[in-house]
Amino acid sequence: MIAPAAGLQVGRTSIGCTSIGRTSIARKLLMAASGAVLFLFVIGHLLGNLQIFRGPAAIDAYAHFLKSTPALLWGARLTLLCAVLLHGWAALTTTLQSWRARRERYASPRRYNVATLFSRSMRVTGPLIFAYVVYHLLHLTVGCVHPEFVEGQVYRNVVVGFSRPLAAMTYMAAMAALGMHLVHGVWSMFQTLGLSSGRWRPRLRLLAATATALIVAGNVSIPLAVLAGWLR
Ligand code: HEM
Repeated sequence: MIAPAAGLQVGRTSIGCTSIGRTSIARKLLMAASGAVLFLFVIGHLLGNLQIFRGPAAIDAYAHFLKSTPALLWGARLTLLCAVLLHGWAALTTTLQSWRARRERYASPRRYNVATLFSRSMRVTGPLIFAYVVYHLLHLTVGCVHPEFVEGQVYRNVVVGFSRPLAAMTYMAAMAALGMHLVHGVWSMFQTLGLSSGRWRPRLRLLAATATALIVAGNVSIPLAVLAGWLR
């Protein structure tokens, strides 16, 4: 193995005092911090969406509250946009760097980490989630790909939208990609923050898996409830 001058390449993380090592660590921290913001958004959004099970008045009032508080709405939108751009940039540059390193045989092509299906699919699930969010915004926020969108009537928009099996199934497939991305992403975030050593390791792995399972189940429950006729 040809090692970098004064740095050590372990899996996808560079540890050491070379500028490449420093840049990699800074990028990992940026990815973890922006990922944490997006993770918190997904949890908050799910809690808001679950209001749908309390009936049209509850979810419509919740959406109305957000829209009538522009500072909160636009503050959240700007924070999200920055987080998406930083997360995407860090992921793209890390991917390009690792491809270049493999081509130049800068690091050994052998894998030193036990790559799981989830970790290996991050570069596929990430862009899939991005494509889903674009479709989702056109469907339930802008409404231009929704058959009968009515501004402000969130309950109705969701129920009519998911009454089409293809749309409901697209959402559920996207939640599978989100789950695959989160289960590794949340664990990776803990590792980057240095929380994954010793006896915390199995607990944090369990926490990442449980949080992901709850998020996926909560999100999938909405299109499923519409298809089953429980929400109408
Ligand atoms: C089945 C699951 C989901 C449902 C039912 C749902 C529902 C909705 C609805 C109704 C809106 C429009 C709210 C309004 O205009 O007042 C919305 C907006 C949005 N959703 Fe979702 N959502 C789901 C999952 C997700 C996921 C997993 C993500 C991210 C990965 C996401 C990201 C967004 C974003 C970024 C917005 C725009 C927020 C804004 O107005 O700035 N959603 N969602």
